[in-house]
Amino acid sequence: MTKQNHNVANEQAAVEEQLIQTVVDSFDNCTDPRLKELMQSLTKHLHAFIRDVRLTEPEWNAAIEFLTAAGHITDDKRQEFILLSDVFGASMQTINVNNEVHDNATEATVFGPFFVDDAPRIENGGDISGGAPGQPCWVEGTVKDTEGNPLPGARIEVWEADEEGFYDVQHSDGRVYGRAHLYSDENGAYSFWGLTPTPYPIPHDGPVGRLLENAGRSPMRASHLHFMVSSAGHRTLVTHIFVTGDELLTQDSVFGVKQSLIKDFVQQPLGTPTPDGRVLDEGSWARAQFDIVLPPEGG
Ligand code: BEZ
Ligand code: FE
Repeated sequence: MTKQNHNVANEQAAVEEQLIQTVVDSFDNCTDPRLKELMQSLTKHLHAFIRDVRLTEPEWNAAIEFLTAAGHITDDKRQEFILLSDVFGASMQTINVNNEVHDNATEATVFGPFFVDDAPRIENGGDISGGAPGQPCWVEGTVKDTEGNPLPGARIEVWEADEEGFYDVQHSDGRVYGRAHLYSDENGAYSFWGLTPTPYPIPHDGPVGRLLENAGRSPMRASHLHFMVSSAGHRTLVTHIFVTGDELLTQDSVFGVKQSLIKDFVQQPLGTPTPDGRVLDEGSWARAQFDIVLPPEGG
């Protein structure tokens, strides 16, 4: 590099750095200290990215078009920005930061877009499938605190896709299936009939799906069953359990898999009696155990 080019490079860097400082300073009078911290840090990281990749103007335009398309497809049923956060691992990293490792507490993972607030109530041993197609699966376990004390009356929300990979809310006819809530009993135990989880793609008919395709990535999620578990005085747990042996465990499109959440879904030979004497028309069923440990609130 000639001396003159070197000077130009230095002057160029000075121009870029001056702009960052000016933008950071523009938030100095923000009276909300947290908002100020977020905006100033975001400014620095965003500008660092632009400078790192020497972002071109067509690339900047493409990014704006992408975000515009994400906005257009988003409504009260479809949230493309959450999908975008999911496929960048940003949702998962936010969960990691907010659910710090705590003794033996059960690990958290992504919430996903398919939870609904008013799922039917079932008793322990009831069936969440609501007639959805899939192999019946008996799921049982306990809810305890980190000292091993049972937590009676914990509210357990469970939801899952059918064997074709669809949640009820993905149909437009208002059907309700594959979801329910129940409460742990006086010993902290719970049980229900669900469906053996099967893999399915995240919604990929929009800009996020095109991004994955262009990047050579799959939209598939590893097979899973969602849980949200709450008990007064304890940290609410949002998680899923995954299926031992599922080929997609290492390629989950939203990076939600954690080793501790992979459970055996044990296939039961035809004719094996069910735990509650239920007679199954098709014969085959599976069973899984998931023991849940909640840390104290704020822990
Ligand atoms: C889900 O597991 O339901 C899900 C999670 C993230 C994106 C899409 C779906
Ligand atoms: Fe899901």
